[in-house]
Amino acid sequence: MEEYRGRRKKGYQTPTGMHDVLPQDQRYFQKIYNICENIVSFYGFQKIETPIVETAELFSKGIGLATDIVEKQMYVFRTKGGDWLALRPEGTASVVRAFIEHGMQSLPKPVKLWYFGPFFRYEHPQAGRFRQFHQFGFEAFGEKSPVMDAQIVQVFYNILKELRFDKLVVEVNNIGDSQCRPYYKKLLVSYLKYRLGGFCAVCRQRAKENPLRIFDCKEEKCQRIKAQAPQIIDHLCEECHNHFREFLEFLDELELPYNLNPYLVRGLDYYTKTVFEIFSTSTENFNSSQQDSEYPPKLYTKEDGGSAETPLKLSEEGEKGYTSKDALVGGGRYDNLCKILGGEPTPACGGAAGIERIVKAMKQRTPKLPQPQLPKVFMAQLGNLAKRKSLKLFEEFRKNRISVADSFGRDDLKAQLKASDRIGVQLTLILGQKEVLEGTIIIKDMKTGRQETVKLEKIIKEVKKRLKKA
Ligand code: HAM
Repeated sequence: MEEYRGRRKKGYQTPTGMHDVLPQDQRYFQKIYNICENIVSFYGFQKIETPIVETAELFSKGIGLATDIVEKQMYVFRTKGGDWLALRPEGTASVVRAFIEHGMQSLPKPVKLWYFGPFFRYEHPQAGRFRQFHQFGFEAFGEKSPVMDAQIVQVFYNILKELRFDKLVVEVNNIGDSQCRPYYKKLLVSYLKYRLGGFCAVCRQRAKENPLRIFDCKEEKCQRIKAQAPQIIDHLCEECHNHFREFLEFLDELELPYNLNPYLVRGLDYYTKTVFEIFSTSTENFNSSQQDSEYPPKLYTKEDGGSAETPLKLSEEGEKGYTSKDALVGGGRYDNLCKILGGEPTPACGGAAGIERIVKAMKQRTPKLPQPQLPKVFMAQLGNLAKRKSLKLFEEFRKNRISVADSFGRDDLKAQLKASDRIGVQLTLILGQKEVLEGTIIIKDMKTGRQETVKLEKIIKEVKKRLKKA
């Protein structure tokens, strides 16, 4: 086993950047899951689960070789059979693969799917950024109208509102498509050509491989140069321009507040046209000490009186109140991905939310969620025969949906009664050797302290009656 020994601190711990979801946090996860399921089923999304590992090539083709996610953050391994697999870093490529593999292209459109589960990225761990994290996400296939882009934003917005997030900001942009982006890229590259010396090493590399990604950089010197760079929204083709205008009109109609952020490009290559991110401005920043909060990108805001048709004014710097790394949700349209992954060309769009980030924000507001209801009945037993009988009786209670606490591991009656007291149950049932032989059981009312012996076969009925009375 020598080869399995990694670097260890003291004892065994979760791997760096990964964490256990402890019982006290399960309630937050469950709450998010329930609200999510409730809302998405109203909008006609159906749940899908895809494997946690996929062929590595699915992501390199789907997300893009020159993206940080594929280049630096993917957990890739070779199986004993020689296949290259990857722990899934995101859900969209997997859902598209499933959509094609299971012939969903022939289903009536739109096909709407949602998912909830763990994802893996070999990140530099920091607040709100983990190597294993959870997302819920939605993908809608077969609808090219921007009404779908707006509905996806609305679903996320409604879920976050239902989770009591009050100050939400939706940032939106349009990054063009295969018609207008190549021309814009050329413009950008020629702008960057004579300024490369002023950029950081990462941006110099990005300018060669994936020039739009320079807008993601948080380095101050790069921010200054890119502030003068040509912006994609000024160079959209007619189709993308109209798509964006209609998308903003739908957001207006839905009364969803948004900011137009011309620097929002997203870190995945599959996007076309709409991209968006959602932030909460009322929670503490995850990365408030990071450079990007000191030098936030300028924004166009709706409040400035702009729309897609009329030029927008730049808003003042520093008024965001959140950093670009804090997004709770990210998404957009990806009209070419189905084709890239071997399917029929199918317009699609979607988004995903980071559950740990949502839980963190929820905890800042409501540190404790209400406890789940504790059992009202405790079962105590004395002796081996009684223990065996109690196990069976326990199943009877389960079938009758009466939740019962027990302490089968304890033999001492006093210790068991103490445990029942701690839980604060209403009734304690006591089964000893004598009771088993006589076919009876003792029922103790914990409030009055009164004890009665009843027939064992009638105990479920008796408990139901007493619980109903209380
Ligand atoms: P993404 O922006 O990479 O997009 O991730 C979506 C959300 O997942 C982020 O806004 C953030 O809340 C959370 N997240 C991402 N990485 C981490 C991390 N390392 N630790 C904690 N939370 C994280 C996607 O994944 C796209 N697949 C979204 C999409 C779906 N686009 C279209 N359809």
